[in-house]
Amino acid sequence: MEWKIKSWKDYQTAYKNSLENTESFWGNVAETFLWQKKWDKVHSGNLTEANVKWFEGGKLNITENCLDRHLKDRGDKVALLFEPNDPSDQVQKYTYKQLHEAVCKASNMLKAQGVKKGDRVCLYMSMVPELLISVLACARVGAVHSVVFGGFSAEALAGRIEDCGAKLVITNDAGFRGNKTVKLKKICDEALLKKECASVEKVIVHKRVGEEVTMKEGRDLWWHDLFASQSSECKAEVMDSEDDLFILYTSGSTGKPKGIKHTTAGYMIWAAYTFANVFQVEENDLYWCTADIGWITGHSYITYGPLLNGATTTMFEGVPSFPDAGRFWQVVDKHKITHFYTAPTAIRALMGAGADFVLDKDLSSLKVLGSVGEPINEEAWDWYHDLVGKKVCPIVDTWWQTETGGIMISPLAGITKEKASFATYPLPGIEPVLVDEKGDEVVGDPAEGNLCIKRAWPGMLRSIWGDHNRFIETYLSTYKGMYFTGDGARRDEDGKYRITGRVDDVLNVSGHRIGTAEVENAINEHPFVIESAVVGYPHDIKGQGIYAYVIIDEEQAASDIKDEIIGEVNRHIGPIAKPDKIQFVTDLPKTRSGKIMRRILRKIACDETDNLGDTSTLLDPSVVEKIMDGKI
Ligand code: WT7
Repeated sequence: MEWKIKSWKDYQTAYKNSLENTESFWGNVAETFLWQKKWDKVHSGNLTEANVKWFEGGKLNITENCLDRHLKDRGDKVALLFEPNDPSDQVQKYTYKQLHEAVCKASNMLKAQGVKKGDRVCLYMSMVPELLISVLACARVGAVHSVVFGGFSAEALAGRIEDCGAKLVITNDAGFRGNKTVKLKKICDEALLKKECASVEKVIVHKRVGEEVTMKEGRDLWWHDLFASQSSECKAEVMDSEDDLFILYTSGSTGKPKGIKHTTAGYMIWAAYTFANVFQVEENDLYWCTADIGWITGHSYITYGPLLNGATTTMFEGVPSFPDAGRFWQVVDKHKITHFYTAPTAIRALMGAGADFVLDKDLSSLKVLGSVGEPINEEAWDWYHDLVGKKVCPIVDTWWQTETGGIMISPLAGITKEKASFATYPLPGIEPVLVDEKGDEVVGDPAEGNLCIKRAWPGMLRSIWGDHNRFIETYLSTYKGMYFTGDGARRDEDGKYRITGRVDDVLNVSGHRIGTAEVENAINEHPFVIESAVVGYPHDIKGQGIYAYVIIDEEQAASDIKDEIIGEVNRHIGPIAKPDKIQFVTDLPKTRSGKIMRRILRKIACDETDNLGDTSTLLDPSVVEKIMDGKI
């Protein structure tokens, strides 16, 4: 690939070129893909008008680029390596030929159930090969996939199904997760009882665990009954470059989750280009990203990115702590993994378990380590670098978001000089800027401010599903003509970026993105709760913990309802949003106009009470003292 960056000089040339000759730059990259018809225009539209388009007029199918394109030269190469939850269970391998066949069969299975181009299909599954196969099958028939992470509750699932109007759901009987099983079909049944899910006509159930399930006549079908008899050839649907590829829900600072919408060609180019250049995977390497396909990382860097590049992608069903804290390293040793990509929260948890779990494994196959999802603190970075990477593996600290489609700021493995806790430099095509509160660009280095992106890039979201105005308001209105990331960042004297975390009311708990408003809404559902306010605080392993201040009906004994409040959160969102601390208070600090002053609550939760800042606008300043006295 002539666009593959191989040296620092290549990077500098590519970066300059991408900004100065944007259309020819991305046109050249796109030339190396398979098109049913080439594009008329590489790029049009802009951030101000929220009408960005890439490769307009082009016709393609992303799965032909992930699969068909590799059959000739890589047909017998392993495309997908599946490592099960239980280390003694069967490893599964799909060559490119076999994966192509499986995806074609699944595509025919969807078509036989009436799924057509443009229909939405919801995938609520555990990490089994059939999830990746289903994702690709949707893309092959032109259906828009919406994967919902298996840790979300029935109500959260129902909300997502309602929002996207899914016609079909694919789930598992249950999923293995460490020493537990997650009863996915049962949760799915509960969701489908709700009136929100009236759009769902069919449910396909893949059997993984052998869990007892109820199959609803006329609606529920077993994967194994449908799949086996399908033809292993399926012509890929012809998609326009800007046809919808998928929706993925993510939390914002207000209200209900947003359906982030990605389209076909731009996303494809971005996932492929960033994967190749950031990770520098070579033909015989073995790449493993530990994320779940329920998150964007699993879309771009387990599924699309690696397969678009003809790499071998590893899919792991389990959790880092089962059967013990050596599981990741045992898998690396077992398969001779060369590229390993995980989240800081996992690194911190494993760091806490002690060096022994690492030291008794042979990790000499490792070439490149990656980090994603939250800021990686220096201690974790050093541990990862020294103990796992034996000081010879570069670490790529990749900053990006569900909205960006792929990696935006990151070292390129072995090429960029790294610096602990710094995501370093932007990928070609990305023009980051730091802006101050007034919205003015902060120029010169070093600098600090809110991180914005100045121009459109191929992988960016195109809209929020069903709510284009919210798209404009959330991302494109805060700073005129720019995409606002919601993150704060610093730039050092060499222009390297360090992402410091969210500046809005979004929490990052173990790499999971959670809106404080969503948690508050869930807590407020409890009949005895009058009001609540949720903030984040530093947590050694999770990165951020959830601190809830709750006002309850005076009559009630607080101790009794803590668990019930947690139950509400489980019910409305899922266990990932469980508050770590709940403090019952009689009042919340409010301004005269009734706005909760979260800044103060955050400082109290973070034990930063030496300097609470300006409290003069508070309606009743004595509230603060009382809350501080009750701090847990
Ligand atoms: C938020 C996006 C990117 C895929 C997984 C999360 C934080 C992500 C980094 C990093 C510091 C990071 C940001 C961002 N984040 N990567 N390398 N360093 N922070 O995707 O759920 O959309 O969350 O995760 O705060 O805004 P997401």
